[in-house]
Amino acid sequence: MNRIGFAGLAVLLAGLVSAQVAEEQSALATDNCVPAGDLRGDAARGAELHLENCAECHGASGKTDVIVMHMDVPPKDQSDPEYMRTLTDAFLYLAVCQGGEAVGRSAVMQGWGDYFSDQQIKDLIAHMRGFSGT
Ligand code: HEC
Repeated sequence: MNRIGFAGLAVLLAGLVSAQVAEEQSALATDNCVPAGDLRGDAARGAELHLENCAECHGASGKTDVIVMHMDVPPKDQSDPEYMRTLTDAFLYLAVCQGGEAVGRSAVMQGWGDYFSDQQIKDLIAHMRGFSGT
């Protein structure tokens, strides 16, 4: 099989796989990162995602206490209720889905809308709210 043949096969297989996991499609693909409905999902599932993807910059408890990576503008303390009360769930959703720049924050905070489903972002929000009890 030549190169084009392989590429064609790969596209075909990718199509089959994505058809099977249609419910797990990225938030960007399904709703273009527009927050809708109840934005607080399953905090326990959000906790797993957070440890794997977010804790290196935000710290495991949102405090930015243990940060692995240097950032010119470090993330703010998400365990501070006073700060977190100033942010709506819709803002958190947009920040996660579209990234920092989209909400006027540091571009070091990338958008995750390509990687997470709408439900996973809501799970993350539920978990993050737990840091401050807000
Ligand atoms: C590479 C480091 C990095 C990673 C990884 C990261 N963030 Fe951020 N995050 C930042 C920075 C930097 C900011 C913005 C700081 C500023 O401009 O105030 C930010 C801002 C935010 C905000 C805006 C609200 C706030 O705290 O002020 C949310 C919500 C957020 N991040 C959630 C997440 C979630 C959820 C994940 C994992 C899916 C994640 N972040 C992964 C660095 C990161």
